[in-house]
Amino acid sequence: MTTRCILGLDIGTSGCKVLALDESGTILGSVVEEYPLYTPKPGWSEQDPEDWWQGVVTGIRKVLQKIGDCQVCGIGLSGQMHGMVPLDNEHRVVRKAILWNDQRTGRQCEEITELAGGLESLLGYTNNRMLTGFTGGKILWMKENEPENYERTVIILNPKDYIRFRLSGAFFTEVSDASGTGLFNVKERTWAVELIKKIGLKPSLFPQVVESTQEAGRVSREAAELTGIPEGTVISGGGGDAVISTTGLGLIRPGRVGITLGTSGVVAMGLPAYMENPNGLLQVSCNNAPGTYHAMGVTLSAAGSYQWFRNALGDYETEKGKATGKDPFYLLDQEAAATNPGADGLVFLPYLMGERAPINDPEATGAFLGLTIRHGKGHFSRAVMEGVAFSLKQVYDLILSVNPDTHPDEVVLAGGGAKSPIWRQIFADIFNLPVRTVFGSAEGGSFGAALVAGVTAGIWNSLADTVALIKPESETLPIAENVPVYAAQYAKYIRYYDALKWSYRS
Ligand code: XUL
Repeated sequence: MTTRCILGLDIGTSGCKVLALDESGTILGSVVEEYPLYTPKPGWSEQDPEDWWQGVVTGIRKVLQKIGDCQVCGIGLSGQMHGMVPLDNEHRVVRKAILWNDQRTGRQCEEITELAGGLESLLGYTNNRMLTGFTGGKILWMKENEPENYERTVIILNPKDYIRFRLSGAFFTEVSDASGTGLFNVKERTWAVELIKKIGLKPSLFPQVVESTQEAGRVSREAAELTGIPEGTVISGGGGDAVISTTGLGLIRPGRVGITLGTSGVVAMGLPAYMENPNGLLQVSCNNAPGTYHAMGVTLSAAGSYQWFRNALGDYETEKGKATGKDPFYLLDQEAAATNPGADGLVFLPYLMGERAPINDPEATGAFLGLTIRHGKGHFSRAVMEGVAFSLKQVYDLILSVNPDTHPDEVVLAGGGAKSPIWRQIFADIFNLPVRTVFGSAEGGSFGAALVAGVTAGIWNSLADTVALIKPESETLPIAENVPVYAAQYAKYIRYYDALKWSYRS
């Protein structure tokens, strides 16, 4: 008998991932296809949607080869949130996509807040600040700076929804990604049409919204020929990566806190009911299970900081990796493991693309502080991992301050960075909590997307049912003597930003 499987696609920032999952929740195979990121000016961040599509087609073909005659019965979509993909009336891409970590829209975000009637009023419309990463500011930026592109645009999609369009010809988004535009009424799960009009944008630019588990398109004949997936295969609504990755961790169950170490770092919590977002300190969005919500805070450069470190200073490890067949990150990890917790006082601030939570400072820049003659390369590797963990600890403290009744007794770690044993130990020591991973947690949004699509395709009745499929993988306990070392270093980390703030203003 042919077995059935679901494909989960994640349109990430460093590459796209295609994963196949069977009905027991077992991962049959996964493939990553990398693509470039363009930074035409400092603080700008763009990608070519055609690169995503080529990556998806190649990735799907490779995965289908791996899984043999398994019958694909559904496709789930996950993707980097907030990106702006404008299409013209012939559905061609008008300009490169502007991404979630782009910082050019500070002025437009202020304008939107003013036009909404101030922060309180904006929160009344969307329950979120208009952060520089969000789509709303990017659209206004295009209107003000590239009016000819704005005039040509008839529809605006988020990255995964552009891939949906290429797979099916259909225009849809779903509630979790729509929440990240900053133009969505999260409470009512509909576009904030009054706000959209107030800021002078056309409501017709925004696609129809469905719940994440609803059907939203079917594979077209053309896409079937290109990818090898049967024509007519159902495509699920899916979700923004920062939300759907946590569905893959079982965070749909309230009260659990999860941390995703992808290019960005996300601290997230599932919410059974709507929650006000006091002062807009967090991001509150719709969750993937109908009627549920999600609260999170995002560090912009998490595993992205480690990737930067490998690219900028890891030539030796990259060459050695090629010669020995070892991953350069593994080699950098080994060097870090040979140094002391706390990197003998070296502290890294991960503000390589400015920062979102908790400091919300698009102009912040990164730094190494506390440098002495004793420090070598391994200290730098360790300090990068520790700095990212400190940043996420700050976000975690903020989430708990907004939800004082939550008392997590573990951290569920996910994303590519969760594969590193030393990074897991650093998190356990800094959070002073057991750090657990589950099977599929290193796969980013693709695993959650496959679970959501399994519900759409009728394999599972609800997302709550999929929690039973999520199996424990590893556990890392805090090392008691490291905890006070990190507590002291964390206090310094927080004060370093305050001390340097003046230097970020031009
Ligand atoms: C979430 C966010 C990032 C991107 C990266 O708000 O900005 O997690 O989705 O993929």
